[in-house]
Formats: sequence, structure tokens, C-alpha cells
Amino acid sequence: MRVAFVGKGGAGKSAIAGTFARLLARSGRPVLALDSDPMPGLAFSLGLRTSDAAIPEDAVEERAQGETGPRYRLRAGLSGAEAVDRYAREAPDGVRFLQFGKLRGQEPAMMRSQMAFRQIVQDLPEDRWDVVGDLPGGPRQAAFGWAPYARTLLLVVEPMTKSLLTGRRIARLAAGMKSAPAVLAVVNRVREPGDVERVKQATGLEVVGAVPWDEELAEAERRTLAPIDHAPASPAVRAIESLVHELAGESHR
Ligand SMILES: Nc1ncnc2c1ncn2[C@@H]1O[C@H](COP(=O)(O)OP(=O)(O)O)[C@@H](O)[C@H]1O
Ligand SMILES: [Mg+2]
Repeated sequence: MRVAFVGKGGAGKSAIAGTFARLLARSGRPVLALDSDPMPGLAFSLGLRTSDAAIPEDAVEERAQGETGPRYRLRAGLSGAEAVDRYAREAPDGVRFLQFGKLRGQEPAMMRSQMAFRQIVQDLPEDRWDVVGDLPGGPRQAAFGWAPYARTLLLVVEPMTKSLLTGRRIARLAAGMKSAPAVLAVVNRVREPGDVERVKQATGLEVVGAVPWDEELAEAERRTLAPIDHAPASPAVRAIESLVHELAGESHR
């Protein structure tokens, strides 16, 4: 399975993606969790206490003169898969975690790390890992460039007007992509029965999951704990478990 969570900032992408990755790993799959949002989020919802898992400087080199392509690339001889083996951190349940680098820091160092990350996600061997990506918020086309691996984009949408509008735009942008991945909606912060239907109507998307409003998720965040460690039986975690089952049942995703 290769999925990436998209949606508006604050929609709940990181909370859901981290929990999703942990649950998928518990079902026995090798899982690689990728954070391409420069604002740290996924590390914490996976249960890591810090978000340091950037690609080190010496893994990257500048393109030689006369060579074409991006300015920086993985150093010669280092494949994307090897870079994951070396630099991805181990999170609970055996999830491997990699992120493209932090927003602070020096511009050239960030650029090096980001370009190496991009190369890694482009080169991932097809069937070695199930991949769960957490993409930056917002309906920018550029955000999708960070998930060339995704067969399915999971659009996290709240049943609120602004979120619905963003959802509709993202659905349209994704449909216009060259190798268009499938786009499915996950409704988050569901409070009443009509919420799922509102999202279906407003986005025109199939809804594959509905995660209830759950105070335990916010509490997990306050304690810097993964939702699945803080409240494994909470309604939101259970709903994410159903989402994993729903998607794992369909191997093309
Ligand atoms: N279903 C929910 N119920 C209650 N709080 C939630 C829910 N989903 C997410 N949150 C909380 O909302 C905040 C934003 O979620 P986050 O996953 O960081 O959003 P994003 O990654 O899309 O920016 C976090 O504090 C998170 O714990
Ligand atoms: Mg996030």
C-alpha cells in the first residue's frame, strides 16, 4: 500500500497518518513513514520524542559541472533504498521514519536535504515497504510532487466550509495530474451523522473513513505522546483502524 495524506493545515493529517502507520505495521507489514511537511508533525504522532531524522550532509553531493538534473543529489553509489536503511529512524512497532528536513537551519543545508529526500521518494523500490506519507498542508500543486510514490491520496477533510472548499480544490488538482493517483476522502472531527454526507456532496469524493472528534487526540498532543500510545482504545484510534482495514483489503492501493 502506498498512500499519502493531504489536506488543509490543521485538518488532522499528521495525527491520522502516524496512527495509520503504526496500525499498519502492527498488521505485519513493513512500513516506511515519510514526512515531507517542513513543520514537524508526523514524528510525534508516531511516538518519537524528537523529530530529528534528517538526511545528513555527507549523504548528498553537488552535481558535477556539465551534469544535468537537480543541483544536489544523493552521493554516488548511494541508492534511495540504502539511504532509507541508513537514515530512516526506527519508530515504535518497527515503523521506519524519514523526513525531508526542518524549516530552521541554513538555506543550502535545507536544499541539500530536500533534494536528497525528493530523490529517495522517487527511487523507492516498488514492493519493499508500504509507504505512508504526510504532505504539507494546502492545495498547492507542488505538494503533490513530494508524493510520486502515492497510489492513493487520502484527503483529510473537516465538515466545515473552508475545509470543504480546500478539499474540492485538492481533488480537482489531483485529478488533473499526469499520473493521477486515486483520491479518497477521510472525514475528520466528525460530530454528527450528516457530516460524512456533507463531505461527499461538497468534494464529490468517495469517503473511505470517518474519524470522530476525540478529545484524546488533543490530549495526546499535549503530552507529546502518539495517540495510539496515549489512548489506544479511543474512538478516533478505532476509526483509523477501520480505515487501515478498508484500504489494506484492496491491494492496488
Ligand atoms: N479527530 C480529532 N479530534 C480532536 N482533535 C483532533 C482530531 N484530529 C486532529 N486533532 C488535533 O488537531 C490538531 C491538528 O492536527 P494535525 O494532525 O497536527 O493536523 P495537520 O497535520 O493536518 O496540520 C492536533 O492537536 C491534533 O491532535
Ligand atoms: Mg501535520
